[in-house]
Amino acid sequence: MSKAVLRVLAGEPLWPPPIWLMRQAGRYLPEYRALREEAGDFLTLATTPDLAAEITLQPVRRFGMDAAILFSDILILPWALGQGLRYEAGEGPVLPPIRDRAGLAGLDRSRLVDRIAPVAATVRRVRQDLPAGCTLIGFAGAPWTVACYMVEGHGKSEFPTVRRLAYADPDFLARLVALLTEATVDYLTAQIEAGAEAVMLFDSWAGLLPPALFDRLVIAPTEAITAAIHDRHPGVPVIGFPRLAGTGLGRYALETGVEAVAMDTAAQPEIVATLVAEDVALQGNLDPLALLAGGDEMREQAEDIARALRGRPHVFNLGHGILPETPPEHVAALVEAVRGA
Ligand code: CP3
Repeated sequence: MSKAVLRVLAGEPLWPPPIWLMRQAGRYLPEYRALREEAGDFLTLATTPDLAAEITLQPVRRFGMDAAILFSDILILPWALGQGLRYEAGEGPVLPPIRDRAGLAGLDRSRLVDRIAPVAATVRRVRQDLPAGCTLIGFAGAPWTVACYMVEGHGKSEFPTVRRLAYADPDFLARLVALLTEATVDYLTAQIEAGAEAVMLFDSWAGLLPPALFDRLVIAPTEAITAAIHDRHPGVPVIGFPRLAGTGLGRYALETGVEAVAMDTAAQPEIVATLVAEDVALQGNLDPLALLAGGDEMREQAEDIARALRGRPHVFNLGHGILPETPPEHVAALVEAVRGA
């Protein structure tokens, strides 16, 4: 196995660490904006395999990234289950909210595999054109985070409705999370069977929960998904990203069975290294604002992170996604700094 990212995810420390960046395909790239214009809207782009495959490969070609992440979105899953979805300019995703059992009854898992066929086709196309040393990462949102958007109906809030429902109607939320857990296994399995070599679970809103709910809504579903993936596809590593989980990261790494934990911007690598077993890989965690700013401060922060984790299995990345205003030259400078570390 010669792909650097796969070696690190298997527990091998490499120096310098391999690098890819969350949201590496996206609006900061002029070549993305051109194809986005051609498609008209984001959903069309994400469900047209030729275009989605091309976008997945854009940052790999431009910067020589060590991994490609499938171009899609975590909300493709609720869309594939039959919940409406549109992306509003300047507003983000909008879904008709689901807040009760009647809403759950409208979701249909039996259509999932058909509706995600364009995603599987995208993965197959990317694998055909993937440079030799580059790893293709598939992904899904973790059930809790996807539930946040499905219940709230949009992203611009601290998700008060779903957090209240966790107390007021725990049975409803348990059913929704159980359905999403099973659907996520189907979704990731389809990506792996099409050629994804590793998968990542984005739990962007894990940090909103107190410990008891974190165990039930973040750790337990992640553990179930990871076990099912390992069972069906032994050897395909799972990267978990429980964003803003704080010290909960330790329990998450220990109990979910993931091969790698992605650190958010606030996590201190030296401390995380003490909370996580040495054979679990760490990913992250440069501040996307440092990348936006560029220059010496960016390089120093990046070198500090790489050095702090030297000797551990580490995949260099950001602590959250690239911001659309980021100059592409800063990304090139970051890749150079990490490779020359
Ligand atoms: O390059 C990559 O990382 C792969 C593609 C990817 C997208 N979204 C594309 C996208 C990935 C991995 C995601 C994950 C995602 N999507 C998350 C988890 C990570 C995180 O950021 O916390 C979440 C919460 C979403 C939901 C989502 N999708 C939101 C809130 C938005 C609107 C905000 C925004 O950035 O525009 C989206 C839309 C979206 N997803 C875009 C892209 C490139 C922008 C679409 C456009 O207008 O062109």
